[in-house]
Amino acid sequence: MRSQLCGHINESLDGTRVTLCGWVDARRDLGGLIFLWMRDRAGIVQVVIEPDSAAFKDAEKLRNEYCVQISGTVRVRPESQWNDAMATGKVEVVADEVKLFSASAPLPLMMSDEDGEEVRLRYRYLDLRRQRMQKNMRIRAAMNSAIRRRLDEQDFAEFETPILTRATPEGARDYLVPSRVHPGEFFALPQSPQLFKQLLMMSGMDRYYQIARCFRDEDLRADRQPEFTQLDMEMSFVREQDVRDTAETLVRQVFHDVLGAELEDPFPSLTWRDAMERYGSDKPDLRIPMQLVSVDEHVAHVEFKVFSGPANDKAQRVAALRVPGGATLSRKQIDDYTKFVGKYGARGLAWIKVNESAKGLEGLQSPIAKFLDDTAWQGIATTSGAQDGDLLFFGAADWLTASEFMGQLRVRVGHDLELVESGWKPLWVNQFPMFEYDEETDRLHAMHHPFTAPAVNDAQALLANPENALSKGYDMVLNGAEIGGGSIRIHTPEMQRAVFKLLGIDENEAQEKFGFLLEALKYGCPPHGGIAFGLDRIAALMAGEPSIRDVIAFPKTTTAQCLLTDAPSAIPDDQLSELGISVNKKA
Ligand code: AMO
Ligand code: AMP
Repeated sequence: MRSQLCGHINESLDGTRVTLCGWVDARRDLGGLIFLWMRDRAGIVQVVIEPDSAAFKDAEKLRNEYCVQISGTVRVRPESQWNDAMATGKVEVVADEVKLFSASAPLPLMMSDEDGEEVRLRYRYLDLRRQRMQKNMRIRAAMNSAIRRRLDEQDFAEFETPILTRATPEGARDYLVPSRVHPGEFFALPQSPQLFKQLLMMSGMDRYYQIARCFRDEDLRADRQPEFTQLDMEMSFVREQDVRDTAETLVRQVFHDVLGAELEDPFPSLTWRDAMERYGSDKPDLRIPMQLVSVDEHVAHVEFKVFSGPANDKAQRVAALRVPGGATLSRKQIDDYTKFVGKYGARGLAWIKVNESAKGLEGLQSPIAKFLDDTAWQGIATTSGAQDGDLLFFGAADWLTASEFMGQLRVRVGHDLELVESGWKPLWVNQFPMFEYDEETDRLHAMHHPFTAPAVNDAQALLANPENALSKGYDMVLNGAEIGGGSIRIHTPEMQRAVFKLLGIDENEAQEKFGFLLEALKYGCPPHGGIAFGLDRIAALMAGEPSIRDVIAFPKTTTAQCLLTDAPSAIPDDQLSELGISVNKKA
């Protein structure tokens, strides 16, 4: 039906007759001349219909988003009319034939970035016609294709794992599917293929990958969807470094293939403890050139209890953040930051403006200067590297709380003051704690998942000291987003039982939920490990989109609904009764 794509028309086609198919992107009538912008998947080209053209009458009827076929001759525009903002801006097509495939009803949205999310999702098929969304979806497709090509080259094999399955614990609620054949029983949709990929290693498959859909019923945000896609990988006979090298090489190759971007080699690596200490986050954004420093040793002796208390307690810290040029911040801005950190558990936010450091304490402006002495200030100044014109923020609390709220502040101030550098800043975070303690339930939780191996190889050693145990888990972080996570797995039934026990899963529950895994571990399980990448997040980063919804063709809203198909929806009573289900609407 067509000879060329709209976006591919260029000067080399000058004088050539072409036939294009696509949509009317915009239309202008100019003193008898009609200008159309015609759009297809490759881009937009300008079409001119002159008043004496046989096509004029047909062109007059065209409106935005009409689907048409247009034939005409390519012409290079006079230089004064070149449009640099358009890839095809030096040419136009002079039409002599216009064929209407189908008209469009008046549009329910503007087809621009001004459209609200609700209308965009309800009419997603129209929203996806926009060039921005076409570009995003193609980046995603190019990413998938590069992943498959690169992994095939490295002897990985793609296997599918079940969607109708049993719950896999990844920390979220399950989506359940009722069984008609077994009334009252349910499948769970997988939160990840975790257990199946481990079983595949036990089956001797050695190097597996899958571009896998995962389902998690959790609170949604810009970077979370109830169904999302992982690149899931697993390898046998590997140590942590082997998996990381493979994963890192793949990510470098994919960024090269899709964007022509060269990521550093090797990625830097931080332990979880260091990441929290220096960035107050387990997914630090290294594009922000500020770090937290501990100033405990300098304030341990001061009168100010807010500082000296935590400074003298190993479980607490006094963390400082140097904001370059921050002395220009107003009282109001500082108060706003104080409120901001309050949301993350801060009881206050002390600060010092460094007006003239040569004058010592005299040269500072601060509500806490009166509590400090020269030794304290000299120590703080040296450790933080404070310069005239800077502002220092201080957070004092238990180690994790202080680290986290100061880490949030670092990111917030970095963005507000436009300190975020451009480019790609990947890193690894590893040596996570094996467990975190949950006060509400008075139980230990797996920081990664219950199949992650501890750093110690001996189950008795783990049982003796679980609170301080580290794991063989690792996350890949890019520009402040956790884009992947994985670990070396437990490969003996003894260690798996020990971890279940520490998580408060008793022998019966372990047998009921994971009996098949415990059994499989008995038959010669290879040491193995792997990783899963969040492909929606990687695609969003590649496309420069803040929300993963903009790289998913048909995403759910933040309230987990599909506005296009109006799902989820009520089910007729007869279908429910066939499933043996009665609905309690009040619940
Ligand atoms: P994890 O739960 O860390 O690990 O998930 C791996 C990666 O998947 C992405 N991700 C999400 N993306 C969008 N929406 C969500 N709701 C969502 N949840 C997670 C993140 C994350 O880094 N089985 C393990 C992997 C392993 O151990 O190999 C797992 O699923 O980018
Ligand atoms: P106060 O003596 O409570 O008025 O506090 C003096 C200064 O210390 C104020 O700027 C408070 O914001 C700050 N501050 C109070 N508690 C903390 C804390 N836990 N961490 C950091 N600064 C604090």
